[in-house]
Amino acid sequence: MSKVAILGFGVVGSGVAEVLQRNGAHIDEKVHSKVELKYILDVRDFPDSPFAAYVVHDFAVIEKDPEVDIVVETIGGAKVAREFTERALSAGKSVVTSNKELVAEHGYELMKLAQEKGVSYLYEASVGGGIPIIRPLKQCLAANEITEICGILNGTTNYILTRMIRSGLPFAQALKEAQTNGYAEADPTADIEGHDACRKICILASLAFGRHIYPKEVPTEGITGVSLADVAYADSCGRKIKLLGRAIRKEDGKVRAFVAPHLVSGSAPLAGVEDVFNAITVRGNAIGDVMFYGRGAGKLPTASAVVADVMEAARNRDRPKFMDWGPGGSGVALPPLDVESPWYVRAEAAPEAIRGALGDVTFLARAGAPAGEVAVLTVSMTRGELEERLKDISLHTVFRVLED
Ligand code: HSE
Repeated sequence: MSKVAILGFGVVGSGVAEVLQRNGAHIDEKVHSKVELKYILDVRDFPDSPFAAYVVHDFAVIEKDPEVDIVVETIGGAKVAREFTERALSAGKSVVTSNKELVAEHGYELMKLAQEKGVSYLYEASVGGGIPIIRPLKQCLAANEITEICGILNGTTNYILTRMIRSGLPFAQALKEAQTNGYAEADPTADIEGHDACRKICILASLAFGRHIYPKEVPTEGITGVSLADVAYADSCGRKIKLLGRAIRKEDGKVRAFVAPHLVSGSAPLAGVEDVFNAITVRGNAIGDVMFYGRGAGKLPTASAVVADVMEAARNRDRPKFMDWGPGGSGVALPPLDVESPWYVRAEAAPEAIRGALGDVTFLARAGAPAGEVAVLTVSMTRGELEERLKDISLHTVFRVLED
């Protein structure tokens, strides 16, 4: 018998309670033991909720209850959530989380603490919502040397970009829709500025390459610089704008990780990933390319991954499974200065000036372009070389082009 406490009764926490209750019989059968909800911790009361009787306000009640062996942390953030996670692990309870910020910032220490205490710290729901990616990456692809991970890792921004591309919808309206659907973070800045995708690529890269890679080591650009003009130019050359998180391991063994909008060929699998869906491609030296696809955000898809981890923790109470990695350190991750690619550039310049600066380019066109605006695709080069060549040009937008 396992007793579960959920910390935080927001979108994901309430989804976890719902799935635990709705699929209770099925869960017990699969685990070969009963898995029961005992507490829900929140600062608020929920008098109209069917789960009202489970609500407590003091974490110590959960911490001190020896019956509770699994704590689900769906509070979010890296402060209170960190304190409660440490206290739960220290009390010998397994912790299951959807909190990518906490795992990306403190995953290494928390996994170490879990190991010391002989319990599980599981975080399948922290990346890709309902998509199984953490366990497949750690276990099913274990035979491979991974060389690259590239993914659409944030549902909110993918939803916004899809609405801009398909319907010409203004950014603000598309964001509002994503918030209404429960996809966005409490503060959507983390979505639109790329921080959420950054945390997720850190988790995937740490797991795939075996050393903790921290968000501060990952140059991150969100989608606030994407305009309908860029969408139109991308469309004119058969491409779509997607926010990608990428981590590349080069021959020197060091990882170049970054998050930025990219132009993706319309025929590439990632271009067909729309709305709230996420997709992660992993390149391994035995498997080649493999892609994981599904709903990357939302109440029940994320709860699906959380509850699967609860079941894993319940099943392995006496022999916890470790989804861990080694410590970070200087030189584990490098900025992507030597990662070459073609580039999309939109600027205020004469076409001859652009050709003079960049040489061989493909000019793009869009209806209603103002006089003086020019947009091109370049040949492959580093960002440094591009910036050096364009130092006298007034730039609007510079995005990488994902090579096929
Ligand atoms: N705000 C996140 C997203 C939620 O939109 O992808 C899932 O991590």
